[in-house]
Amino acid sequence: MITELRDNDVSALMVLEACALSGVSAALLSEALGSDKACVLGDWQENQLIGYALLARLPFDAELQAIGVRPEQRGQGVGDQLLKAVLAVAARWQSERVLLEVRESNAAAIRLYKGAGFQQDGCRRNYYPAAEGAAGRESALLMSRPV
Ligand SMILES: CC(C)(COP(=O)(O)OP(=O)(O)OC[C@H]1O[C@@H](n2cnc3c(N)ncnc32)[C@H](O)[C@@H]1OP(=O)(O)O)[C@@H](O)C(=O)NCCC(=O)NCCS
Repeated sequence: MITELRDNDVSALMVLEACALSGVSAALLSEALGSDKACVLGDWQENQLIGYALLARLPFDAELQAIGVRPEQRGQGVGDQLLKAVLAVAARWQSERVLLEVRESNAAAIRLYKGAGFQQDGCRRNYYPAAEGAAGRESALLMSRPV
């Protein structure tokens, strides 16, 4: 079941992010929970939070800032369901597009986004520090989907 997370879901969200590793800070997540400029969606199974998505409201568009699913529950359509719920929130906000940035090495996320109708608009070279254990930097792919 997908719900909008609130302030009192903060500890469940931190536990989830600690294993999902979407790469957003605890500060950003707790700020988003109390903000009317953001929406954090959570997917619950048997009272456990197994996936979440963070959507920020911009003047014309919405930005998917994070999405993460517990490693044990990946590959079962949870990410896909969360993206559908993200698009419904963006429609409610009357956003024109949903935008996102993703590491070019993150094949799972890129396939998830493409499957949900996102297209690549550009590339920001050497945008991210390299993934743990790797040298150098990594580029970001910029993607978007009309709402
Ligand atoms: C990206 C992520 C959210 C996908 O969640 P998920 O619940 O496993 O995704 P789904 O089961 O809904 O899969 C949807 C589609 O994504 C793609 N996909 C998912 N996992 C994949 C993998 N390991 N390899 C390749 N494609 C994958 C597939 O196209 C899949 O559709 P299909 O099964 O019909 O082929 C999850 O892997 C995750 O939490 N990763 C770590 C955090 C992260 O990198 N977040 C993105 C940046 S913020």
